[in-house]
Amino acid sequence: MTWNFDEIRRQVERQIEEIRDIKMLEAFRVQYLGRKGLIQEMFVSLATAPAEEKPFIGRGANDLKQYIIARIEDRRRALQLGREETAEPIDITLPGVASSLGTRHLITQVIQEVCGIFEQMGFAAHEGPEIETEFNNFTALNIPVDHPSRDAFDTFYLDTPDPGNKSRNLLLRSHTSPVQIRIMQAFQPPIAVVVPGKVYRPDAVDASHSFMFHQIEGLLVDRDIKFSHLKGLLSVFCKRLFSEDIRTRFRPHFFPFTEPSAEVDISCHKCKGNGCSVCGRKGWIEIMGCGMVHPNVFAAVKYPKGRYTGLAFGMGVERMAMLKYGIHDIRTFFENDVRFLKQF
Ligand code: DAH
Repeated sequence: MTWNFDEIRRQVERQIEEIRDIKMLEAFRVQYLGRKGLIQEMFVSLATAPAEEKPFIGRGANDLKQYIIARIEDRRRALQLGREETAEPIDITLPGVASSLGTRHLITQVIQEVCGIFEQMGFAAHEGPEIETEFNNFTALNIPVDHPSRDAFDTFYLDTPDPGNKSRNLLLRSHTSPVQIRIMQAFQPPIAVVVPGKVYRPDAVDASHSFMFHQIEGLLVDRDIKFSHLKGLLSVFCKRLFSEDIRTRFRPHFFPFTEPSAEVDISCHKCKGNGCSVCGRKGWIEIMGCGMVHPNVFAAVKYPKGRYTGLAFGMGVERMAMLKYGIHDIRTFFENDVRFLKQF
């Protein structure tokens, strides 16, 4: 028996247009695709068909089957849509579903608050890239080649096209200080900038460590900038961010890119300096690093020797947020639990 596939297709098309409900659709499906349906009959007829017709019948039956499956699906979708349209009319007087408004993430809020305080004092906010050169992240900042922070255990290095050229090696910046270099290469003093952004270190994640966190860098360069400017600036900043009665102290420290360098402590806002669990009974809490820009850093950006002096500082945003809002676990910032985030 030979099959007129074109004619059958036309018949399918006519029939399908007349289907008005799912029951009719099912009957149609059985008629063609069922165990005793037409398609099956075609396959059975293959057994007795002349050899030269077999490929024609086989291909024709298969094409027709795919076509019918697709048309049934189309029809099913159209029927379902139609049913939704003719179902219960919509009561337009019912109150709508209110969509909740998001808030800025606490980290963003703290970045904006910190940068805002410096902007009021004449600083401009800048950003730099998270992928940096080894030169900007270390070399230009006077960090020697054998410094432990350059170790692969402390920095995420990226595969680079030119492994022979040390200063072109790429990495995820481990602090925001390299943006100091970019800014000084691009601008001549006077410079007053704050630089917020993400930094990366291969630290195991725990309550106080994360492989990614945020820092804010500060840089002020001009003629005759003195350590007293640094002390005044950061003391005022701490009062504005925490409270008027907060005291600050500058504890000598070492950073390769500043000389002299200091760590800034604030009096514990919880116990007012008497010693408690927040400050580890010390009465003071360390909040950032700072210092006077090292002459070697000015040399790296080719500023004329001895012409300028500058101050720099760097703070961790998560740390500031944790102190200010009494948060004990850094992971809560990144878990995206809205119950935590919407408190702020
Ligand atoms: N880059 C330092 C860090 O990640 C922080 C820092 C300390 C930045 C002293 C500075 C500075 O600009 O002067 O630990």
